[in-house]
Amino acid sequence: MSETNTQWNLISRPEGEARREHFEVVQRPKPVPGPGEILVRNIYLFVPPSMRLWMNEKESYFPPQPLGQPMMGITLGIVEKSTVADLPAGTYVNGMGGWQQWYLASADQLQAVHPHPRVPLAAYRTVLEAQGLTAYCGLTEIGQPKPGDTLVVTSAAGSVGSLVCQIGRKLGLRVVGIAGGAEKCRWLLDYCGVAGAIDYRAEDVGARLDALCPQGIDVVFENVGGPVMDLILDRINTGARIALSGLIASYNAATVQSTRSLMQLVNKSARMEGFLVLNFLHRGPEVIAKLQDWILDGSLQYQMEILDGLDRVLEAMSRVFHGQNHGVQLVRISPEQ
Ligand SMILES: NC(=O)c1ccc[n+]([C@@H]2O[C@H](COP(=O)([O-])OP(=O)(O)OC[C@H]3O[C@@H](n4cnc5c(N)ncnc54)[C@H](OP(=O)(O)O)[C@@H]3O)[C@@H](O)[C@H]2O)c1
Repeated sequence: MSETNTQWNLISRPEGEARREHFEVVQRPKPVPGPGEILVRNIYLFVPPSMRLWMNEKESYFPPQPLGQPMMGITLGIVEKSTVADLPAGTYVNGMGGWQQWYLASADQLQAVHPHPRVPLAAYRTVLEAQGLTAYCGLTEIGQPKPGDTLVVTSAAGSVGSLVCQIGRKLGLRVVGIAGGAEKCRWLLDYCGVAGAIDYRAEDVGARLDALCPQGIDVVFENVGGPVMDLILDRINTGARIALSGLIASYNAATVQSTRSLMQLVNKSARMEGFLVLNFLHRGPEVIAKLQDWILDGSLQYQMEILDGLDRVLEAMSRVFHGQNHGVQLVRISPEQ
């Protein structure tokens, strides 16, 4: 790797999908750590759909990405230089390293990662971190499921959604997943133990929900929004809980598509509650240990797709918004060793 630091700076705010023209790629000198600073080499950049929201002028759950600066990004890297005893060179660390090769951080901005030898390193920035915590806590704390409940999950074959489906099954729920394409639906049936899978691109979602949820819907884990959410809300039971995780169908749009079925929350005395994984950080160690155990005993499946090279980051984003990703989408910026 050269001793210059390749950075992708956001220079204008996208309308619609992020494209190359919204960024300038610059070469800066590799940073040199000062007192108390740690030099980290980025290895994996996680490409979640919500990264698109950070590019907007309007504040999301993060302040807007400043223009002219390296794009914010959720990364896993390795400490290259450090005088901090707890984080010596060679330690894998999670941080907000951004779209660049190296960055400087203070110790309190980094979390050491100690991967299990049988679990891929990249899982520790995704399924065994925010994605897993979102799925577990969103379902259990917001969804308040009871054994026997019917759970419907959207973007069910995605990284969060597929974990929700499997955790739901483990909790004794009847799980119905909605995903785009026959291949994703097959994977949900074969590997995630769902009772039914609906291909929203090819099937009549309302008719399939009627067939697969004859007792109505008790819990919804909503990742998408838009017209499919209306069809789900049309079928909720009295007292249903809707865990609103995200609205990916609107992330490239100027405004969120509103739902015509909100009155159903009134009709059915139902509760829809938005949440952020940040609300559940205190449960991280306990939940992640449980999920890691399930991965190790083979009872929790996940998929990861890794594109090589920071120059493929927009391709990775595009895959997420066109349903081409199978599970977690990452970019490998540099080798693990
Ligand atoms: N609340 C939180 O703290 C929190 C934390 C993490 C993630 N999330 C949310 O969880 C959701 C899933 O995130 P993820 O990282 O697991 O991504 P993901 O589901 O692995 O990937 C995104 C998937 O969304 C679907 N999709 C993309 N554009 C769509 C559109 N216009 N209409 C309908 N479906 C579309 C595609 O699946 P199909 O092929 O099936 O259409 C795509 O594969 C997002 O809404 C995200 O913001 C929330």
